[in-house]
Amino acid sequence: MTPAPSAVNLAHIQGLRPFLDERIIGQEHVIPKVVPIVQNGELGLADPKRPKGTFLLLGPTGVGKTEITLLITEYIYQDVQKHCIRLDMSEYQNQESLGLLLGKDNSSRGNLGRFYDRAEGRGVILFDEIEKAHPRVLDIFLQVLDAGRITVANGDTLNLCNFYIVATSNIGADALMELKNSPMATVERFIEDLAAAELRPEVLARFNVRCVFQKLGYAAQKKIAAIMLGKELKLLREKGYQLEAGEGVLELLVSQGVEPRLGVRRMRATAETLCRHAVREALMAGQPASGTLRVQHGSLAITPA
Ligand SMILES: Nc1ncnc2c1ncn2[C@@H]1O[C@H](COP(=O)(O)OP(=O)(O)O)[C@@H](O)[C@H]1O
Ligand SMILES: [Mg+2]
Repeated sequence: MTPAPSAVNLAHIQGLRPFLDERIIGQEHVIPKVVPIVQNGELGLADPKRPKGTFLLLGPTGVGKTEITLLITEYIYQDVQKHCIRLDMSEYQNQESLGLLLGKDNSSRGNLGRFYDRAEGRGVILFDEIEKAHPRVLDIFLQVLDAGRITVANGDTLNLCNFYIVATSNIGADALMELKNSPMATVERFIEDLAAAELRPEVLARFNVRCVFQKLGYAAQKKIAAIMLGKELKLLREKGYQLEAGEGVLELLVSQGVEPRLGVRRMRATAETLCRHAVREALMAGQPASGTLRVQHGSLAITPA
C-alpha cells in the first residue's frame, strides 16, 4: 500500500492549482482538468502499471501547451532540466528517427535512454508537437501510453510508470484562424474531431485528459506581457537599473509580441529587446538608465527619475 501523504506533501499537492492559476493565463478551463490527474499521480492513486498520468494538449501555437508542462515539472520535480524529457517531434520526422529515439545498435540507448538516466527514472515526458512525428515514432509513443514501458536498442526495458506523459499538438492551428469568432464549444469540437481523424480514436481514448487550449484574447495577452516585462525588469534591477513601466508600454509589447500564427511565443524576446534597447541607448548617451520606460517612435526610451 502507498503510505498516507504527510501534511507537508499534502500542502504541496494542494498548491499546484494556485501555482498554475498564477502563471498560465487565459486557459482557465484547462487547469481544472489537468490538476486532478497530477494530484492522483502524486497521491499514488494511478494504475501502478501505467504512467502516472497522460495528457493530450491541443490547440493553436503559442498559447501555453508546452509552458504548462514545464510548469508542472518544475512544481512537482523542482529541476526541469533534469526531470522533463522534452522530445521535440520535429526532430523525429524521418526513417532514422527511431534509432535516434531508442538507439541504433545493441550498445546504445538512444535519446530516450539517455534522458531517462538523467531523470533518474521519474519526471515528465513531453512528446511535443506530435503531428510532426514519423508514424513509427507515434507507434512507440502509443506503446508508452499503454504499457508504461519501452525497450531500447541495448535490450534494457525502461519503466515509465514514474512519469507523466504529455503530448501536444498544434493540429488545426491554421483552420482555427478561420474560426476565430466561433464560440469556444464549436472550436473545441472542431479540434477534437480533427485530432480523432489524425490520431485514430483508440489513441485519443488512451489519454486520461484531453484539453483544447484557446486562442488568447487581448486581456490575456496584456497579462502575459506584464509577466514578461516583470521578469525583464527584475533582471535589469539586478544589474543596477531601476525601471518602471509608463503609459502604453504593455500595449506596445502586445502589438509587437503577438503574432497571429505564433500566439505570444515571441513576447519574452520582445520585452527583452525593447527594454535592453532603452537601457543601451541611455547608457550610450551618457544618461542615467533608471527611471520610467515610455513609448517613443514604436520603441521604448527612459525618462530619468
Ligand atoms: N496561456 C499562457 N500563459 C502564460 N504564458 C504563456 C501562455 N501561452 C504562452 N505563454 C508564453 O509564451 C511562450 C510560448 O508558449 P508555449 O507554451 O511554448 O506555446 P505552445 O502552446 O505552442 O506550446 C511560453 O514560454 C510562455 O512564456
Ligand atoms: Mg509547444
